Amino acid sequence: MAGDDAVQFGLGEPDFQPPDIAIEAFTRAMEEGRNKYTTTAGLPPLRQKIAETWHHLVPTLDESNVCMTMSGTNALLDIFLALVDPGDEVLLPEPYFPLYPTDVVICGGSPVLYPCNFENGFVPTVADLEARLTENTIAILYNFPSNPTGGNVTPEQRDELLEFARENDLWVITDEVYDRIVYDREHVSFIGAGYDKVIMINSFSKTFAMTGWRIGYILSPDPEAMGHITKMQYYVTACSNDAMQHAVLEALEKASDYPAQMRDEFQARRDLICERLNAMPGVSCHVPTGAFYVFPKVDVPGMNSEEIAMALLEGGVLCSPGSAFGAAGEGHLRFAYTIGREDISRGMDRVEKVIAELRGD
Ligand SMILES: Cc1ncc(COP(=O)(O)O)c(C=O)c1O
Repeated sequence: MAGDDAVQFGLGEPDFQPPDIAIEAFTRAMEEGRNKYTTTAGLPPLRQKIAETWHHLVPTLDESNVCMTMSGTNALLDIFLALVDPGDEVLLPEPYFPLYPTDVVICGGSPVLYPCNFENGFVPTVADLEARLTENTIAILYNFPSNPTGGNVTPEQRDELLEFARENDLWVITDEVYDRIVYDREHVSFIGAGYDKVIMINSFSKTFAMTGWRIGYILSPDPEAMGHITKMQYYVTACSNDAMQHAVLEALEKASDYPAQMRDEFQARRDLICERLNAMPGVSCHVPTGAFYVFPKVDVPGMNSEEIAMALLEGGVLCSPGSAFGAAGEGHLRFAYTIGREDISRGMDRVEKVIAELRGD
């Protein structure tokens, strides 16, 4: 529905290309005959290299702790297939990345949503988690930095959330696909923080701007969990893509500074978009410390987030209504700042005009 001239804040993917070195390595690998099945868990040198990128947190990790997947999306399904039996409950954040509840249902489980509210910086309180715990709860998923909210945890908040899991003997599924897009601080991982029933989803979609390649991984310090998960990966896609795994290994070895370059540009965009949004009457947003989304509260009396998003579309701006990420997202809009700064400014001029007209300011 958006016209050609619409400013596109809708897409959750970097507007960069993968590093040249990865594209060259991918082409070379295919020419050299790397076009076959790999082992289900993936190429050992790549898995070892990935394990080493986490050695600052868990020095004992090796290739046996990593299973390559065809994306974070594939990783999520493998993990839920391995963990969830019919009737099991999984605690999930709301607002959520839309695959989570559906994946749990596909595996016969019940999603139980816990709130990540604006007032608490989009981080849940332990009291909110405890209120949703039953004898059927087997796991909790954390997603920091978060899509759609950009919410992130401090080490102290992470420790509290892990302690809740430990006290209740829950599996922690930690979606850290934005671990390389973190601003003003170090990434706070749920791996290597004193509790080992933790399974991480990660992906090269955002890390190396290769959303269309479809490659990611699962990492856990727990060898038994990795065994079950790798079995599920066998049934889901048998293995990841051969040539692409060679390309990602080369990118990790030779373009390790690439994610930080992208991060610096995202940070400048974040500053710009937050300043513009917070200057608009009726709009307020946190300045996120990770991912590339802002999730402002937008107050237009008598209109819900979908209606506001539709009005913005007519005004030449595409963004997502907060309700697309669950009922708790109502009252918010999601803007992905995956476009250049000039386009962000042009889009924000339009947002300012439309919101002012709708509010009668
Ligand atoms: C929080 C989160 N997890 C997982 C994914 C899946 O990414 P992919 O399947 O491209 O690896 C995304 C993609 O937007 C995401 O935002």
